[in-house]
Amino acid sequence: MNASTSPSLSPQDQLKQAVALAALAYVPRGEIIGVGTGSTANFFIDGLASMKADIPGAVASSEATAKRLASHGIKVVDLNEVTALGVYVDGADEIDPRGHMIKGGGAALTREKIVASVAAKFICIADGSKEVPVLGKFPLPVEVIPMAREAIARQLAKLGGTPKWREGVVTDNGNIILDVHGLSITDPVATEALINSWPGVVTNGLFAARKADVALIGAAGGVKTIT
Ligand code: 5RP
Repeated sequence: MNASTSPSLSPQDQLKQAVALAALAYVPRGEIIGVGTGSTANFFIDGLASMKADIPGAVASSEATAKRLASHGIKVVDLNEVTALGVYVDGADEIDPRGHMIKGGGAALTREKIVASVAAKFICIADGSKEVPVLGKFPLPVEVIPMAREAIARQLAKLGGTPKWREGVVTDNGNIILDVHGLSITDPVATEALINSWPGVVTNGLFAARKADVALIGAAGGVKTIT
């Protein structure tokens, strides 16, 4: 456990908090940054509150993140108002040794991908359970326009996976999520591009074309940095 993490948290949350606090060192003073979504990103936002005077604001990757940033008095900036972001800090559901990730467990993948695309550096913060040799054990989320749900599910099944509709979930963009189980993604760049090429797909949760530049991985021995 890191000296600055909270002992009242579960061991996994302590690792999430440790990597989130380590990511504060990557925040460029005086610059607007991009902020991800999820429980690890939430620890980062809570830590960012301690240095809110050092940044002019942050671009949020979801409504939930915007709310949490605002609750700490951190200015939420519209992406259309910025031309560059120094860093984007976010968690992941899986990360491979090359920094390719699966994201979207929290259904925020599209906005996450948009904000990440504008950032100079993607800092991935994750506890050690997210490290995998090959992506795919975590079901791959795909955001889909509602009318294309069954058509895209048939296409995804042809890839060898089993798509399941995340019923009851509507994304911040008004779309649905298909989670694809049972894939072994050996070429994440090609798979990301292929799925994204199908009409009706908004985006998929593979972050491979734009992968992590730095991964901060939490383990019992401390925070491991992979660049
Ligand atoms: C949300 C995401 C999250 O980054 C991912 O699901 C990891 O979440 P957590 O930090 O709660 O484990 O992609 O869409």
